[in-house]
Amino acid sequence: MQIIEVADPAEAAAFAADLIEEHAPRVLGAATGATPEPLYRLLVARQRLAPTTTVCLLDEYIGLPVGHRQRYRHVIEAQLVNPLGLTVVAPDVDAIDPTAACRRYEDALVELGGIDLQILGIGRNGHIGFNEPGTSFDTVTHVVELAATTRADNARCFDGLSGVPTHAITQGIANIRRAKRIVLIAFGRRKANAVSAMLGGPVSTASPASALRDHRDLVVIADREALTQRNIIQSHSFGTA
Ligand code: PGA
Repeated sequence: MQIIEVADPAEAAAFAADLIEEHAPRVLGAATGATPEPLYRLLVARQRLAPTTTVCLLDEYIGLPVGHRQRYRHVIEAQLVNPLGLTVVAPDVDAIDPTAACRRYEDALVELGGIDLQILGIGRNGHIGFNEPGTSFDTVTHVVELAATTRADNARCFDGLSGVPTHAITQGIANIRRAKRIVLIAFGRRKANAVSAMLGGPVSTASPASALRDHRDLVVIADREALTQRNIIQSHSFGTA
């Protein structure tokens, strides 16, 4: 694991964009949320990702109407896929049988040869994707009921808490662990507990992100606030000059 301490989201975006462009993933796993937005803006501005790149969604709400601005497919298309002319693959959250849709998404991921590089945020409760605390590390794509903290955190994107869906489809922790390279980004003091549990706490389902600790190629990019409670490890400072 490599830990990169950055000054701010702009520096994180620059570092992550360099990594991604160097890696030139054929299949890019994309998280949604506030955290990766500066990165996506930079990737679009630089126009260096090959148009043959396929972007796979990490997760998606169930129950939002087609065209809803918070459908993650729509968000990723608008922020990354359409401006760069890429291809997107997403779980079919409108399927009558969401469990069958999860199986089809698994098949699609296998057919693509797996995720080459997965971009991740981290939830305040340590979730990755919508894999909430308690999720087995063996899970593949599945339907989840969202944790109260997750719904509360995401209410800002809806007209209040009651508008936030209760369920979603997410790639499982096993899918994320299988990605050849993982870039996890975290900003702010509100993520500090989750980051410290991930980096230095017990490897346990209480901290879904701790499942990544032994990954062969994990880069954690975080600001000082998100790293404040880190009680371990040599940090590697990305220059601010
Ligand atoms: P955020 O969400 O980027 O909006 O903070 C991260 C997450 O919940 O995984």
